[in-house]
Amino acid sequence: MVVQSVVLKRTFDLHKSEYEEAALRALNSGWYILGKEMEDFEQKFAAYMGTKHCVALNSGTDALILAFRAIGIQPGDEVIVPAGAYIASVIGVMENGGTPIFVDMDVNMEIDANAIEANITDKTKAILPVHLYGQCSRMDKIIKIAQKYTLIIIEDCAQCHGSTFNGKLAGTFGDIGCFSFYPTKPLGALGDAGAVVTDSDELAEKVRLLRNYGSKVKYQNEINGVNSRMDEVQAAILKVGLKYLDAGNNERRHQAQMYMDGLKNSKVIIPPVYEDVYHVYHLFPVLVEDRDDFQEYLAKNGIKTQVHYPIPPYVAECYKDWGYQWSDFPNAEQYAKQEVSLPIYAGLPDEEVRYVIDVINRYS
Ligand SMILES: Cc1ncc(COP(=O)(O)O)c(C=O)c1O
Repeated sequence: MVVQSVVLKRTFDLHKSEYEEAALRALNSGWYILGKEMEDFEQKFAAYMGTKHCVALNSGTDALILAFRAIGIQPGDEVIVPAGAYIASVIGVMENGGTPIFVDMDVNMEIDANAIEANITDKTKAILPVHLYGQCSRMDKIIKIAQKYTLIIIEDCAQCHGSTFNGKLAGTFGDIGCFSFYPTKPLGALGDAGAVVTDSDELAEKVRLLRNYGSKVKYQNEINGVNSRMDEVQAAILKVGLKYLDAGNNERRHQAQMYMDGLKNSKVIIPPVYEDVYHVYHLFPVLVEDRDDFQEYLAKNGIKTQVHYPIPPYVAECYKDWGYQWSDFPNAEQYAKQEVSLPIYAGLPDEEVRYVIDVINRYS
């Protein structure tokens, strides 16, 4: 049997006719940028999140860049970020001239909330929890620290649409929640797209201006902005996806449960998840000491896997001048060297999950 790590066509096929109808409706409307589909999606996503505002953008990376711009991050400002996250989170800070201050990961593969406080200086302006793999970070602890030091919280929710901590949705704890709708995400477009959510009228207005050349009224440019608008076709597609977001999350949670119940191999470690979290399993990470050997074994048995992420941002080639060593953040280093993401996505048949479990349990 061949098992791919993600088959987007299968996820698309689950609601194919609705996606086609939505795309055609947008195409036939004759209006492609800043139109009714986008406005409608903004309202619907804000309603799902329970936030006052959603501002639809071009990508998750833009959501992060514009969120940090909106809160006024500038050269000299420090932002606490997880050492083991995806590089886009760091780009959000860097594009505004800010300095990312890395904090190691905890045993649950999220930012170690207990290690944040020791990294706060008088230059710290914000904390960026990145809710990785579909699991909301320890927001109870992070909020306490932010309140104690009057710091802004920007949440990177690119992998956790619908995840909660203590019953509260990821993306609604901080000042701004940043979402990616990259096609593989729990809520995925069929191209690039992203959004921010916030309860702040002021921040929403700022991001709305920033995404449209700094302009509300054509040719009147109030601030220096960019072009980061979600197009009408993606917005129409996302409205369909949003209807099935919870169903997709449930499906992946079911597959994750199959892995957790079925995997019995001491060489393959399933990291613990927080007790108070509703995990939406954007990914299913396991840790294996000899990753190359394990991935090769799986590939020989027809199973494709991915790694999230093999090179942590603090040692990325583009940031080599910072002089960090791999060993500076031991947990991030371990995850970068041992993490393997098993196949998990809406539309993956149980039979394939059972096959993956069976093959892994025979790995020696
Ligand atoms: C944690 C995280 N943050 C940010 C991003 C960037 O989102 P986008 O690809 O939409 O720019 C991603 C996307 O892969 C991500 O996983």
